[in-house]
Amino acid sequence: MQQSFDKTILVLFGGCSTEYEISLQSAASVLGTLTPMVRRVLPVGITREGRWLRYLGDPSALSENHWQQAGIPCTLTLDRGSCRLLWLDGSGRQETFDAAFPVLHGKNGEDGTVQGIFELAGVPLIGCGVLSSALCMDKDRAHKLAALAGVAVPKSAVFRRDASPDDIAGAAETLGWPLFVKPVRAGSSFGISRVENAGQLPDAVAEAFRHDCEILLEEAVPGFEVGCAVLGNTELITGAVDEIELSKGFFNFEEKYTLKTSAIHCPARIPPEKAAEIQAAAKRVYRALGCRVFARVDLFLTPDGRVIFNEVNTIPGFTAHSRYPGMMRATGLELPELVAKMVELGVQNT
Ligand SMILES: Nc1ncnc2c1ncn2[C@@H]1O[C@H](COP(=O)(O)OP(=O)(O)O)[C@@H](O)[C@H]1O
Ligand SMILES: [Mg+2]
Repeated sequence: MQQSFDKTILVLFGGCSTEYEISLQSAASVLGTLTPMVRRVLPVGITREGRWLRYLGDPSALSENHWQQAGIPCTLTLDRGSCRLLWLDGSGRQETFDAAFPVLHGKNGEDGTVQGIFELAGVPLIGCGVLSSALCMDKDRAHKLAALAGVAVPKSAVFRRDASPDDIAGAAETLGWPLFVKPVRAGSSFGISRVENAGQLPDAVAEAFRHDCEILLEEAVPGFEVGCAVLGNTELITGAVDEIELSKGFFNFEEKYTLKTSAIHCPARIPPEKAAEIQAAAKRVYRALGCRVFARVDLFLTPDGRVIFNEVNTIPGFTAHSRYPGMMRATGLELPELVAKMVELGVQNT
């Protein structure tokens, strides 16, 4: 039987992020699943420009992007313990809520900024808090902490905007070719290039700096990428490990959302003991970065069987076809039970 909660949940979607569109799709799925199991949902969209609108339309129409026409300007009042949504249409109407569920991907949503608003107001979050969200968005600091926790990471070098091109080229020669150039903080493969030789380096560096003021040069890890869904606060459970099969290039924005030349296998086509090792590494990283409620931990599996951490997505894609729900479904946890568990974990004071 579906669990029901006597709670009003604010669901945030959209946001000033390159992953705005994907957030609309994830939120449509979350709203559809959450609505029958809670007292009320308060859907709030953030436009690409950063305007907050209380959405009064049909949740399933979100992905069509006309949602703003059904939105009332709103803002939050941040008085501690009484976080309220205040309509800015002259009505003075206020709506209270018990917990906030940010379904926002990328910058200004998955990176601790929005989480800070709710922590300040003392409102429980369905998801990671400020510190873990910020750390997981930062590929350099996340690697450093994962390495300290005993999980292998790719060799890398980090540079700020004022770094000399010679220093960057020198670091690239030391790492060897091919290598990856990435913004330290971004998502959905934006600003990421696979660089085959020194001639391609300057353009890749310039592209990565368009997305962030710090960039990472990273050795290319051979083998393939695997993902592991983690759920929990103190006791952690993991989903099935999945596998990304690429036939060319890397998992760039187009491939992630069209799977034209790539495929996702869930469960991964690997021996059970390797899957168990990946699940253990994923939990270790989740704990080291202070995650709570849920996150998807991505790692590489090399041809010689090494497990190497890549990144954590604290708000992974959440449509019915997305990887996180798929990994949980493969262990018998269907989307409604999964979302119910997330609400339960979110309102826990941990
Ligand atoms: N060090 C690496 N070795 C091999 N492939 C990589 C490496 N870093 C990134 N990739 C490829 O690039 C994709 C995007 O990189 P990732 O760091 O996961 O950024 P994003 O946050 O945008 O998903 C990965 O899914 C993978 O296909
Ligand atoms: Mg990734």
